[in-house]
Amino acid sequence: MQTPSKLLLENKAWSQDMIARQPNYFNELAKEQRPDFLWIGCADSRVPAETVVNAQPGEIFVHRNIANQVITTDFNCLSVLQYAISVLKVKHVIVCGHYGCGGVMAAMQPQSGDLLIANKWLLHIKDVYRLHQEELESIDPGKKTDRLVELNIVEQVYRLAHTSIIQSAWKHGHKPTIHGWVYGLNDGLIDELIKLDHNTQINPIYRYAD
Ligand code: CO
Repeated sequence: MQTPSKLLLENKAWSQDMIARQPNYFNELAKEQRPDFLWIGCADSRVPAETVVNAQPGEIFVHRNIANQVITTDFNCLSVLQYAISVLKVKHVIVCGHYGCGGVMAAMQPQSGDLLIANKWLLHIKDVYRLHQEELESIDPGKKTDRLVELNIVEQVYRLAHTSIIQSAWKHGHKPTIHGWVYGLNDGLIDELIKLDHNTQINPIYRYAD
């Protein structure tokens, strides 16, 4: 079993190992960050952003929450998005969900009397379910969760496109591309479900007027 002191020991070993390989590693890294990617992922411990794409410190700006959601009243996610787009000028925003997502599975159940806060977070996934209820209830029940995982990822990509931050960057900024990815817990592989760029036609009701 892992203990916090084991983690601290591992940290020491990792730091020493990095310095042994590249004596200037931390000095260089400490100067600035210029990641090309913003990763919005699930908090699930089995889907660590950098690990699954073999990235190094400094390469990905990361935000994770339960079921990789972009909720437009969530200042945490929006602050990360604004900083990544306006200051870091990331070229790509990636929403990466995963099959077998516990948050999505929980959203398909009745609300829990014990998890009153988490319920409110999951309500947004219930809305995605309701939006696609006909399709979800017509497919093989065994595939329902995975399909809702996919639909939830696509929905978050559209929510990003509906923010003033992305629309303004598409119009006046550096035109980042938004990707919806799904990760397979069983094989460690990622598939792209959707990609939106600055040529995307946004539904007029979500468009910001000039
Ligand atoms: Co998850």
